[in-house]
Amino acid sequence: MDRQRRAVVKGLAATSFTALTACGGSGSNSSPSTGDSDPGVVSGDSAMVPRVAFNHGVASGDPLSDRVILWTRVTPTDALPRTVESVPVQVTVARDRDMREPVGQINTSTGPDRDFCVKVDVTGLRPDTWYYYQFSVGSAKSVVGRTRTFPDTRMPAERARFAVVSCSNHAYGLFSVYKAVSEQADLDFILHLGDYIYEYGPGEYGDFPGRDPLPAHEIIELSDYRQRHAQYKTDAKLQAVHQQFPMICIWDDHESANDSYRDGAENHDEATEGGWSERRAAAVQAYFEWLPIREIGTERGRVWRKFQFGKLIDLFMLDTRLEGRDMQVSSPADPGRFDDQRRIMSEEQMSWLTRGLSDSTATWRMIGQQVMFAELNIVRTLDAARTLGMEDTSAFNGQLLSLNMDQWDGYVADRENILQTLAGESIGNTVIFTGDIHTSWANEVYADSGNLLENSLTAPLAAEFVTPSVTSPGFPEEIAGVAEAAVQLANPHMKYVELKSPGFILVDVTMARTQAEFLYVQSISSVDSLGAINPEMTKVVGVDSGSSRIYEDRARSEPRAVRTALFHPPVRQVVS
Ligand SMILES: [Fe+2]
Repeated sequence: MDRQRRAVVKGLAATSFTALTACGGSGSNSSPSTGDSDPGVVSGDSAMVPRVAFNHGVASGDPLSDRVILWTRVTPTDALPRTVESVPVQVTVARDRDMREPVGQINTSTGPDRDFCVKVDVTGLRPDTWYYYQFSVGSAKSVVGRTRTFPDTRMPAERARFAVVSCSNHAYGLFSVYKAVSEQADLDFILHLGDYIYEYGPGEYGDFPGRDPLPAHEIIELSDYRQRHAQYKTDAKLQAVHQQFPMICIWDDHESANDSYRDGAENHDEATEGGWSERRAAAVQAYFEWLPIREIGTERGRVWRKFQFGKLIDLFMLDTRLEGRDMQVSSPADPGRFDDQRRIMSEEQMSWLTRGLSDSTATWRMIGQQVMFAELNIVRTLDAARTLGMEDTSAFNGQLLSLNMDQWDGYVADRENILQTLAGESIGNTVIFTGDIHTSWANEVYADSGNLLENSLTAPLAAEFVTPSVTSPGFPEEIAGVAEAAVQLANPHMKYVELKSPGFILVDVTMARTQAEFLYVQSISSVDSLGAINPEMTKVVGVDSGSSRIYEDRARSEPRAVRTALFHPPVRQVVS
């Protein structure tokens, strides 16, 4: 901070405190405070401040042009947590990573009613600006986190750069992908498309040594979901991602239970596990406590929301899981797939989305959502696999079926609704980002992907990039190669398919193009190569502005590394 600006901050603090306020979240209140005060001392009777540890890192999320959510969790250490009713917490926001140039402080509190999580929506921030933040309780301080606000929605933005991740099963392997993401030189934010946690008990889905799930059974009740979130948040690699970048997240199924929908889940048995509505409410509550996501009004449980990155991107985040989804049909032959009364989201959410797409004037319309949008023709794919020499297609068929009816292929009417909006109103530059299936896909989305002849003559309506998993398994090694070839042979709109490797997508957006760079880690089992990328596997795809035809194999984008190093350097890692 230059001298002149320091003087302005002091001046503000000495009179009235207007730089920062907090709203929503966890009982926050704005509290005048000077930039010179000791951020480690909480005002009031310090004897009332319990000793705490910050065992779960810090996080930020849902950046807008003037605000961002800041998050941490405090762990009372000198008393049983249930005997502590309230913990006063102070948040300091600064422009530098050494916290020498504070722009404001906020007093808030937390307690057992929110599992000692702290969530503050800090407002009054400058657009397109990086900040650093730190929580304190008495003399205990958290690590410093780094975050940013988005550019002003009325201003052009030249470039955005973000990582897309999903499916981070702690029990399945090491968070090598998270380490690689945290070490990226230059990202504006992280898009987490769900399966941030998994609900299973030990050995049910992953048995990596030393990473058995806690509690040691399938999570069903509120205390279970809280404990599982807490376990994930003790992973240093996940902490590192949150510490460096703001996250925009949505849940998929495993934050509640496998293949969940509005009124139930494949992995929920009301006879033995109680009512779905209670379990769903517990999962939602724990998610909103433990993730840096904004609560919209009084409507706890709404994760569908919109972000604007200057005039460059309108980003629509969807809930195709818990909000309005009807139960999945059991097979592609079930005519219910085409039933125009069946929904993957509520009519309210659908009309919000289609109206938002119609009204958007940004260069790019982006959709972050859970399950694959593009049509996958299973019958043709199995035929192609046989043609390519796969003698026994039963394992392949099982894989395809297990994912297919949970996707938009199982909710054809809702997909049609979106496609008709794009086609009918000539809406271009639409890019969909998807998670869920632990595999990588770059798809051109057509009005009718089954019509191969039409697709050679007409232009695609959108592009879809499906991100690989952080750890969860893709297709078995022995069938992945032939399966990739068969999918592409039978589904020519699928331009890139990789079915077995963990990694993430690095997305680089300019006015001219959106480029998706699929990056894969060398290993999720070796501590020696944690975070190491396998450069031979990197795949570059993208779309140019004005066309949704996917291009391949251009040069990788360059990070704005010098700008980052000079103006908002990464926070120093205290983790290995
Ligand atoms: Fe998953």
